[in-house]
Amino acid sequence: MSASTATGEAAPTTAFRSFVWRRLGTILALAPLGVWVVIHVWNNLAAFRGAEAWQESVTNHRHPIAAAITWVVVLTPLAIHTLWGLGRLKTSQPNNMAYGYFGNLRYLLQRISALGVLGFVAAHLWLAFLQPRFVHGHPERFADIAREMAHHMPTLVVYLLGTMGVAYHLANGVATSAMAFGVGTTARSQKRMERVALVLFVVLLALSWGAIYGLWQAGGAAA
Ligand code: HEM
Repeated sequence: MSASTATGEAAPTTAFRSFVWRRLGTILALAPLGVWVVIHVWNNLAAFRGAEAWQESVTNHRHPIAAAITWVVVLTPLAIHTLWGLGRLKTSQPNNMAYGYFGNLRYLLQRISALGVLGFVAAHLWLAFLQPRFVHGHPERFADIAREMAHHMPTLVVYLLGTMGVAYHLANGVATSAMAFGVGTTARSQKRMERVALVLFVVLLALSWGAIYGLWQAGGAAA
């Protein structure tokens, strides 16, 4: 016999744990993860100001401890949100064949973009963060990433698509998570949240592709 049927108390505890887990996955995705993503993309725009400015904004940390704290504050929420997201994916039931509504499409795209973001972030973390630091012994160099962007087509395509996936996933995620917190529950406010998501998507995409353009241009000029 399970503890829950014997005491009648385990079920509420389990429900409470699942509620906390669900909210934790959402909150960590918004901050610090989502906020950090926006700052990271913004910092990359320093590509337009040259190698020194880019390295100062993106890869240099004043102190190793500050660097370690940043990584923990970003990577731990990413790991928790990814575990949480994979759990959500397992129980997802898209019904786009039966219902052709925009909301159903957004639900499906949120899940497809999650898988794309997973692949992109894993590759990006290895190639731009872990490999340069721990295999080559230095942070990613501006000249290296700019050259790859300009002369290695797969890198350029992966960055363009990967950042588009992140822009959609985060922008739509902000709108859907607002509902979890009681914002956007009426039809009118849902429409408003839809517009917020669209604006956020366009802004994030413009910033990301702008940064990629800055790197691509610098890589081309250096050749
Ligand atoms: C840059 C990294 C990421 C950011 C900033 C991010 C952000 C977000 C945000 C803000 C939400 C809305 C939360 C909610 O609806 O409660 C969300 C939802 C979701 N995320 Fe992520 N995410 C990222 C990476 C990932 C990864 C790697 C996965 C796993 C494969 C993932 C899977 C999901 C899923 C499945 C949802 C939908 C949950 C639902 O609607 O039930 N995310 N994400």
